[in-house]
Amino acid sequence: MSNQNQNDAITQKFVLELNAVLAIENAGTERLQARIQESRLNEIRQQLQQHLQESTEHQKRLQKIIHGIGGEPTQEKSGLPLPIYPDIIWKMMSNSMTKQEWELKRAEEDLIVENAEAVCYSMLIQKAKAGGDLFSNTIEQLSLNLKDEQHMIDWINNNLPEMLTRLWPSIQQTQSKDNPDDHK
Ligand SMILES: [Fe+2]
Repeated sequence: MSNQNQNDAITQKFVLELNAVLAIENAGTERLQARIQESRLNEIRQQLQQHLQESTEHQKRLQKIIHGIGGEPTQEKSGLPLPIYPDIIWKMMSNSMTKQEWELKRAEEDLIVENAEAVCYSMLIQKAKAGGDLFSNTIEQLSLNLKDEQHMIDWINNNLPEMLTRLWPSIQQTQSKDNPDDHK
């Protein structure tokens, strides 16, 4: 294989990797919009709103990078890396969890998605570095995306304990209402 053909093949592979992450961002922005509608906590809604704006920027950066190396940005959406609970557990969760418990569960899922995105960007950056001169001009933009993901992860990690403390009394109250025996 000539050098040029080899470079073309590596570029195609890198475009595929970039599009795989773009498809996650495409699905992620849709999920963030749903989360903003659903969350009952102001600070969470504000933070999600900010991250939605950042994610829109992530999509634009990825699209630009992909165009820049001669690829076509995807509009597809991937499945998000969230747990699919076994039916029996899912049914019990649906029947027993309060709104407050769901609020915490969703924040936990936010953290799972954001961590997965950060892993993807971190891998993309390592692959870009491995490509040497071919992709060196993509690293700065990919690093900006990674920085936002890490900031979102830090925010959730820092705020989850406080959320738990705040929601816990109402979770406990509902539990004792459901289980009058607890008072005996
Ligand atoms: Fe994100």
